[in-house]
Amino acid sequence: MIVKPNLRVPDYVQNRKLIDWVQEMVDLCKPDEVYWCDGSQEEYDRLCDLMVKAGTFIKLNPEKRPNSFLARSHPSDVARVEDRTYICSFAKKDAGPTNNWMAPAEMKRKLIPLFDGSMKGRTMYVVPFSMGPIGSPISHIGVELSDSPYVAVNMRIMTRMGRKVLETLGDGEFVPCLHSVGAPLEPGQKDVPWPCNTEKYIVHFPEERSIWSYGSGYGGNALLGKKCFALRIASVLAKEQNWLAEHMLILGVKDPNGEKTYVAAAFPSACGKTNFAMLIPPKPFQEEGWEVTTVGDDIAWIKPAADGKIYAINPEAGFFGVAPGTNVESNPNAIASIQENTIFTNVALTDDGDVWWEGLTKEAPAHLIDWTGQEWTPDCGRKAAHANSRFTAPLNQCPSVDPEYDNPRGVPISAFIFGGRRSTVMPLVYQSFNWNYGVYAAATMGSEMTAAAFGALGEVRRDPFAMLPFIGYHMADYFNHWLNFGRSIPNPPRIFNVNWFRKDENGKFVWPGFGENMRILKWIVERARGHAASLESPLGWVPRYEDLDWRGLDFSEAQFNEIMSVDRDAWQKELTGHDELFMKLYDKLPKEFIFIKELILSSLWRAPEHWELWHE
Ligand code: GTP
Ligand code: SPV
Ligand code: MN
Repeated sequence: MIVKPNLRVPDYVQNRKLIDWVQEMVDLCKPDEVYWCDGSQEEYDRLCDLMVKAGTFIKLNPEKRPNSFLARSHPSDVARVEDRTYICSFAKKDAGPTNNWMAPAEMKRKLIPLFDGSMKGRTMYVVPFSMGPIGSPISHIGVELSDSPYVAVNMRIMTRMGRKVLETLGDGEFVPCLHSVGAPLEPGQKDVPWPCNTEKYIVHFPEERSIWSYGSGYGGNALLGKKCFALRIASVLAKEQNWLAEHMLILGVKDPNGEKTYVAAAFPSACGKTNFAMLIPPKPFQEEGWEVTTVGDDIAWIKPAADGKIYAINPEAGFFGVAPGTNVESNPNAIASIQENTIFTNVALTDDGDVWWEGLTKEAPAHLIDWTGQEWTPDCGRKAAHANSRFTAPLNQCPSVDPEYDNPRGVPISAFIFGGRRSTVMPLVYQSFNWNYGVYAAATMGSEMTAAAFGALGEVRRDPFAMLPFIGYHMADYFNHWLNFGRSIPNPPRIFNVNWFRKDENGKFVWPGFGENMRILKWIVERARGHAASLESPLGWVPRYEDLDWRGLDFSEAQFNEIMSVDRDAWQKELTGHDELFMKLYDKLPKEFIFIKELILSSLWRAPEHWELWHE
């Protein structure tokens, strides 16, 4: 092996382990150059310019969208690849039946030849990043080596990135994250706008606490701080150290007295976390002084503190949000967040150099360039933006950003909310009777598939805690961890389930959703504080029609009863679905779950058949 002697290391880099690892990866991947990112604006602008020249980025019209760019991925590289994602623990049983597994040594034998020379003709970017405010006791540091400048600039938005991270790191611990698009260039070979490889591997070594990602440049496959580190590796750390690393948004609710309550909510990919995190309350609520603020829209790290409460930080510094469906009505805060300094990926380009996607405006422009670079007209029969097209925007551009978002202590969490995308069966909202019931409800959550992951669209799959693709170890060990965590804190948060997606017989959403979700959120916050009325249902406590604040919305009691109904036959089938998951996890499944399922079944049979009867 030829060892390049010329690895230049900036003088502020003191970490021997880091220097040795970078040298080793340089020897393996053989980039033409190594570049240490300092995280400055000047560097960001320079890399963006470079990508404009290379054809990876299109600079958007600076009058409409200052300092913003559009990238179009290869049409095969548009979402996470769950079937190519591996948890390579020493023992297979530690990865569990819901993860792909391969022995670490065997996986390295596969990966090393792939990475050997994979960066030829390219620059290796050294991207130091902090997940969470730099220096926070809840934060952790990683370093990503990537041959993609797209990754480098996205990481600058999504994390605290650059020189100051390495200065803080000193000779401390970091998570090494290796990433290559897997498209080396031979001398003289012309590059393509979006290099990637048909063969993809997204690999985690939980004991070594390292990540190797090959072949994709998109989102969670390539921005390794996000799903790979902040969820898969961090979930392993969290179990060992008694904290939580979750696929959750964090929001604050301020009531008219100025009292603030923070909640964290887990919905599966593309099921409304960004929307809920940026919720704008309906007019009558606003006028009374209700306010919702945003701490994070995708990931929460939650640690117990000495005062007996649990505190959450958003490990990210930006939004990597779903574009389609985002508009001034559905999410005005998101629209405001992406006015400038934003990277768009796989949306359509307008004739005046701005962006467009399905749902941005009621009427589509007469002409566009679609996400694949082809001419597009409204009648052409194709989508202009990919269903999983996204924007990358700085968190602090969000008008509703919470004043505490950067506080290294985090914010105290009073309630957890779980919600899937279910057109039937699941009621609009219920509160679990206690922590264990809540863990059961979260563990058995189902959701209809979206475009954020590969799979059959619309089909219901169990997605425990919205973490199915993101747990770095055995799912049943994770359930046990949640049960233990609840026992380890004096007053665990209340747990709620919601479903914004119930449909009527014509296939239309019954619940108006978006800002109107405030009505449910208000009830949740008041319940968490212990002062809102409710009724006992077979699943948990539920609001009656009169327990919710309906000011400014025309939603009848009959409609409410429709989306709150619990159908006994449908629920028996639902419980059979729980069993299917449990059987997979039988050897480690918490015994509590068996009893809770029995209790739900028996209360379903005790309950009157029709929801309406409960009201008498
Ligand atoms: P990831 O970033 O993939 O983890 O997902 P996310 O949960 O942040 O997804 P996001 O908020 O971007 O969800 C987008 C999808 O949810 C769009 O299709 C929205 O229209 C839909 N959505 C969000 N909130 C609501 C709601 O209250 N009601 C309905 N019906 N749809 C909603
Ligand atoms: C998700 O799929 O849950 C996302 C997008 O948040 S990605 O970062 O691509 O995983
Ligand atoms: Mn997500």
